[in-house]
Amino acid sequence: MTSSVKDLSLAPGGHRKIDWAARHSPVLNAVRDRYLKDGTFEGLTVGVSLPIEAKTAYLTVVLAEAGAEVALASPGPFFVQDDVAAALAERGVTVYASSDNPPEEADRELERVLDHGPDVIIDDRAALTRLLHTTRRHLLGKVRGASEETTSGVAKLRAMQDQGVLEIPTIAANDARCKYLFDNRYGTGQSTITAIMQNTNLMLGGKRLVVVGYGWCGKGIARYAAGLGARVTVCEVDPVRGLEAYADGFDVLPALEAAGFGEIFITATGGRHVLAREHFERMRNGAILANAGGVDVEIDVDALGELARKRYEARRNVEAFVMPDGRELHLVGRGMVVNLTAGDGHPVEIMDLTFAIQALCAHHLANRRQTEPGVHLLPREIDDRVAGIKLQTLGMGVDRLTPQQEEFLREWRE
Ligand SMILES: NC(=O)c1ccc[n+]([C@@H]2O[C@H](COP(=O)([O-])OP(=O)(O)OC[C@H]3O[C@@H](n4cnc5c(N)ncnc54)[C@H](O)[C@@H]3O)[C@@H](O)[C@H]2O)c1
Repeated sequence: MTSSVKDLSLAPGGHRKIDWAARHSPVLNAVRDRYLKDGTFEGLTVGVSLPIEAKTAYLTVVLAEAGAEVALASPGPFFVQDDVAAALAERGVTVYASSDNPPEEADRELERVLDHGPDVIIDDRAALTRLLHTTRRHLLGKVRGASEETTSGVAKLRAMQDQGVLEIPTIAANDARCKYLFDNRYGTGQSTITAIMQNTNLMLGGKRLVVVGYGWCGKGIARYAAGLGARVTVCEVDPVRGLEAYADGFDVLPALEAAGFGEIFITATGGRHVLAREHFERMRNGAILANAGGVDVEIDVDALGELARKRYEARRNVEAFVMPDGRELHLVGRGMVVNLTAGDGHPVEIMDLTFAIQALCAHHLANRRQTEPGVHLLPREIDDRVAGIKLQTLGMGVDRLTPQQEEFLREWRE
């Protein structure tokens, strides 16, 4: 089927971006050459939902090179780089994506991907998997499995499993150690801070920065912000994570308290309305708000709009909300995943690891190595393999336990 993108003439810029990603993806390249070209993907269709930018594009190119027919759409128009979409269409990947499309169209584009009849799905926020179980149920039987990219998507899959409605095998790619330890922590940390700094052109040193949620993403954000001199406060609902933040050197306070003094607020929880009306009412004039979590409702943007007597574009990607008392709150990237809607996503080297994991998850499912419906982890040895390849590309390596050391660990008698 033919792609539907905004403007094919944008392709040259997209090719350059994809080539750059390819050059900086030694792990995915090694995985392609060592594992993916074994014929597994010949004649199979892979349906993909991922933000459309250079790194995700390169993953689809690699799958196509391995013999798969690949169809791709984005979870929404704010995650689409049109030049990359155009370049992909030229490289033989079927793409349904344009930054001009209204957000309500996103599900239609994802359904077009499902209409290719995928054997394997690579998913983001479980978008394709949810549609497969609702509007495209007749295609369920063909799908060998889905691999899920995000923490939020894995949560949705577990909810489906708990309710007994998940009918296909899924792999929580997000929960592979080579994914969350690097992508969620260092990737989100660096790219979220970069996006906020680039779009606001403000300084971070000395600022009171509030991170809501101290999971893997929150830890990375706090670490990068502190490294650039921000004074970081963490808000949590989990007391152990709160204590961890304290031990890492940060203040820990309820969000309502932090709302009164914070200058920059970043949410990374995967939850709903963690910053809401009562927080906005307390915030200082000029406060910057951004969301790095995987759902678009972490910051209650509707409430912000209702409170405001006026809103205007303060800078590209920064919207000002003028409160009745004259205070202005500044929202970066529409309250959506800021490092994607107002940035270039994670660093290439990070996505190289993530997509090596995703490619091997797809390979695992395509080979029917996991056939039980439910949410599964990627086998540990595959995770280890990816880390081993990465260390090799860095000219580094780790030791192996000797048989005597293994025996010592297995034995309980003195
Ligand atoms: N921006 C990106 O590129 C990117 C990358 C990876 C993951 N994500 C998304 O970021 C979100 C967080 O991912 P993670 O891997 O850090 O998850 P996680 O489960 O490790 O951490 C989430 C943390 O938020 C806390 N939390 C939940 N509700 C809260 C609330 N109301 N107030 C304060 N704290 C609260 C939880 O206790 C937990 O510690 C997810 O939605 C995930 O999909 C985004």
